[in-house]
Amino acid sequence: MLQIDVISIFPEYLSPLKLSLLGKAQDKGLVSINIHDLRDQTNDVHKSVDDTPYGGGAGMVMTAEPWAAAIDQITNDQDEVDLIILTPAGEKFNQKMAETFANKSHLIFACGRYEGIDARVGEYYAGKSNFKIHQVSIGDYVLGGGEVAAMVIIEATTRLIPGVLGNPDSLKEESHSITGANDEVLVEYPNYTKPASWRGLEVPEVLLSGNHGEIAKWRKAQAERRTQQLNKE
Ligand code: ADE
Repeated sequence: MLQIDVISIFPEYLSPLKLSLLGKAQDKGLVSINIHDLRDQTNDVHKSVDDTPYGGGAGMVMTAEPWAAAIDQITNDQDEVDLIILTPAGEKFNQKMAETFANKSHLIFACGRYEGIDARVGEYYAGKSNFKIHQVSIGDYVLGGGEVAAMVIIEATTRLIPGVLGNPDSLKEESHSITGANDEVLVEYPNYTKPASWRGLEVPEVLLSGNHGEIAKWRKAQAERRTQQLNKE
């Protein structure tokens, strides 16, 4: 079973993780998701988790100690852990990364806010042999914090775990899992369902033909056309 722990100062922000497919996956025992409040690891009356940056500059930096206390509480020295630190300065998340994470046993998501987390947190755990550190961004824009980014990664990752999706065939022919002639990753072809004629618009003839070879050819061509179009923009 994949164990996922998420650390945040806004645990309620992560409550959608209980819903839908992910809620069912947890009920089925395929994945276990625990949300932790970073402020539970503070000892002062203000439950403070940030301070001014060394070297000056605007904004606040999250202090290392509450993060380490939270991570230490969740883990032990035997546990193989992948620590995912959400930051716009990280490696760009993609389907391949989701596949890698889906094969892990324990993921911890550190959702920073403000100007991020003291860099020594990543450095400290990188020095532990049972930890692998990933600094990850979900795109070239700045969010208010890592919570939404963590949810994106958790949703993309957990749906790849066998048994999470009702029909595992849905994974076979979707965007980013189809490859073209040169092994490049393609987005999916357009899909249609009944009725065949709707508001004057017709479903492409080939899809009604029953000719599986022609249908596969058409779909591949459409996926390639769409991908080229996206790459031009
Ligand atoms: N925190 C703020 N912006 C982010 C982004 N784009 N990806 C991941 N974490 C973030």
